[in-house]
Amino acid sequence: MAIERTLSIIKPDATRRNLTGKINAKFEDAGLRIVAQKRIHLSLAQAQKFYAVHAERPFFAELTEFMASEPVVVQVLEGEGAIAKNREVMGATNPANADAGTIRKEFALSVGENSVHGSDAPETAAEEIAFFFSGLELVG
Ligand code: TYD
Repeated sequence: MAIERTLSIIKPDATRRNLTGKINAKFEDAGLRIVAQKRIHLSLAQAQKFYAVHAERPFFAELTEFMASEPVVVQVLEGEGAIAKNREVMGATNPANADAGTIRKEFALSVGENSVHGSDAPETAAEEIAFFFSGLELVG
């Protein structure tokens, strides 16, 4: 399988509870390398732009206000099949449906405050990485 890169976000519910290190350990244990990482506080406009694909969904306002409420850690993960592997490590969107051992099963508070974001396909991974990082910031 090809080496891929994917965009990950550790969301405000997790940064607030000092879970960045525990979540990063899950990625590293799964063979994902953190090749870029920074802590930022999104504006509401930036959160709305990032999640524009969900603009018509009923949870859009709640989601974007949450993402802009406190700092997040944005990161690029690299590894074999990194996009799917990261989604596996994250677990299902709703923590009630997430498998044991996944980040969302262990740490998420609810379907909205679910601790992590991960790109879902090669095209979105490329777009989402470019949204947050310049090429110079990616250290493979
Ligand atoms: P989605 O892309 O469906 O999930 P995932 O993050 O697993 O790729 O949804 C994006 C985010 O929107 C999700 O992480 C949390 C939020 N959300 C809700 O708040 N309520 C919902 O019913 C859904 C489906 C998502």
